[in-house]
Amino acid sequence: MITGDESGPSATPGPDWERVFPDADHAWRMGLRRCDPAEFLAPRDRSGTVLAERARWLAEAPVTYAALTPPAEPALAETVALARALGAGIDPTLDPWAQTLALGRAWECDFVWMTPAGEGAHRLTGGVVCFPSSWALRDKLGGTMAGVHGPVPGLNAALSRQIETFFARMRPGEGWARENANYSRVSDLNQHPARPRPQLDASVTPDEFWIRLEHQFLLKLPASGAVLFAIRVEQVPLRAVLGVPAAVRGLARLLETVPEDAADYKGVLAARAHLVAVLRAISSPGGSAPRTIRTPPTEVP
Ligand code: HEM
Repeated sequence: MITGDESGPSATPGPDWERVFPDADHAWRMGLRRCDPAEFLAPRDRSGTVLAERARWLAEAPVTYAALTPPAEPALAETVALARALGAGIDPTLDPWAQTLALGRAWECDFVWMTPAGEGAHRLTGGVVCFPSSWALRDKLGGTMAGVHGPVPGLNAALSRQIETFFARMRPGEGWARENANYSRVSDLNQHPARPRPQLDASVTPDEFWIRLEHQFLLKLPASGAVLFAIRVEQVPLRAVLGVPAAVRGLARLLETVPEDAADYKGVLAARAHLVAVLRAISSPGGSAPRTIRTPPTEVP
């Protein structure tokens, strides 16, 4: 479900919150599991607002939200063929840039191509990213996986070798999924760094705290060997998690144990002590949600 618009009902169940916020200290994790490509890439937003927003950003600032370099063209052709096989009406005779934009308007998810660049490395050679979580596609273009992850404190030390090994072992056609949780004070889908937005700090109320769940998908393309990496953003208010006590405890433990530099990177440094206190109060025996939070729903709205 993409909650850019709450009127866009979802055919799929809500997130598995206990998987997203396990009872474990913070660590950068691979967290990969198999995933059916057709299921991940299928449209979810029946209201059409997500595609309308994508079309708007791509019309207003195509060079900000889309990129294509020559090494990505074989991956583009394979991705357009995949999208067509899944029902998207993209004309494969258009020029490559027009096909890239058409793909960006046809899919609800963002996507990039990581193209083999020799010596086991992959480089980001193109894609469409309309709904970034505080990063810019243009800044990452041409970067290796380690370069792309460079701003994340400690991530490369923990995972960069595992990620390249995983890419090397992926078999074409096998889809993989994982999740990243980010946090925000606003529910805008497009959180490009050039768009100012209020920061999380100790004044944040639970109703202003949004979990920005990135559902990520990886697929090796058979001919080019490029890795298609897709991201579907789901914005969920904190209150949606409050009905899952184990996840409330997991989120509190995560926020409490994330190292200071990583908490700063994730934008929660100034808010976390306050949030942990609120979450601990809710999850303690007899604890309940503060008045600013509506009754926890049994499902994600
Ligand atoms: C198996 C593959 C991958 C794993 C395990 C992985 C893991 C992660 C993790 C743990 C984070 C930190 C998230 C957080 O804030 O909590 C992250 C951030 C990020 N990842 Fe990945 N990632 C993978 C592939 C990719 C690919 C292919 C891209 C290509 C664009 C990518 C782009 C990013 C970006 C842009 C960030 C944020 C960096 C920034 O703020 O500048 N990741 N990734």
